[in-house]
Amino acid sequence: MKKPMVFVANWKMNMPFKSGLSFIQDNVDLLAQLNDNHHKKIILCPSFPFLMPIKKELNQLPLFLGAQNCSEHAEGPFTGQVSAHMLAEAGCNYCIIGHSECRSMLKETNEQIAAKATQLIKAKVIPIICIGETLEQKMSQKTTEVLCNQLTPLIKELKQHTGTIYIAYEPIWAIGTGKTPSGYELEEISAFLVNFLNQELPNTNTTLLYGGSVNEANTQEILNIPAIGGLLIGGASLDFKNFQKIVSLSR
Ligand code: PGA
Repeated sequence: MKKPMVFVANWKMNMPFKSGLSFIQDNVDLLAQLNDNHHKKIILCPSFPFLMPIKKELNQLPLFLGAQNCSEHAEGPFTGQVSAHMLAEAGCNYCIIGHSECRSMLKETNEQIAAKATQLIKAKVIPIICIGETLEQKMSQKTTEVLCNQLTPLIKELKQHTGTIYIAYEPIWAIGTGKTPSGYELEEISAFLVNFLNQELPNTNTTLLYGGSVNEANTQEILNIPAIGGLLIGGASLDFKNFQKIVSLSR
């Protein structure tokens, strides 16, 4: 059976509650039509305080809820953190982890990100694990080495996992910059990643996503790459019309 094409809207800290609500309430019919054949998986990722009210709005719609991060711990004295189990209780089916903004600003390590994936899987929340290289690493031909290093602790943790995970390849130099890899580069890296993941996690149902300056103009070319199963969309997911165009362009 053909896997659904995945569209993750990463709203980051950019969507105030009222805007998030009108994104859904003003476009209920259009949102339902976007996925009327259920061949697409559309996941909205608002900030923590809005997860539950947004979930309520999504009630009758064929859309899913995701969070933007979680703790690597199950519970305990971790002020300000949110556990995977709490996200599940709030109605999340998905959670982004390892985003480059969290890796750099919160100093998250590959090991912590692997532990977060385990917590999410235990809580029955599907992890969307971001990986990606800096421009400097790309220029010194280290991309595949960096991606493999980022994935190594995760592979160790997930050896026995038979469920679903999403890996989002997001070159750091492409996030929010308007730049994207060339079609040839992206095809090469995504084929490498899919082979690597199939080899290292043969029992896991892995889907590869691409993220970094996705917009209506580049969506078609990216989604024509056979190894890519969906998109992680930041800036272009904040405006309903832009997001709608991107989702409508999928095969
Ligand atoms: P962007 O962000 O689409 O604005 O580049 C993507 C992301 O950071 O997930």
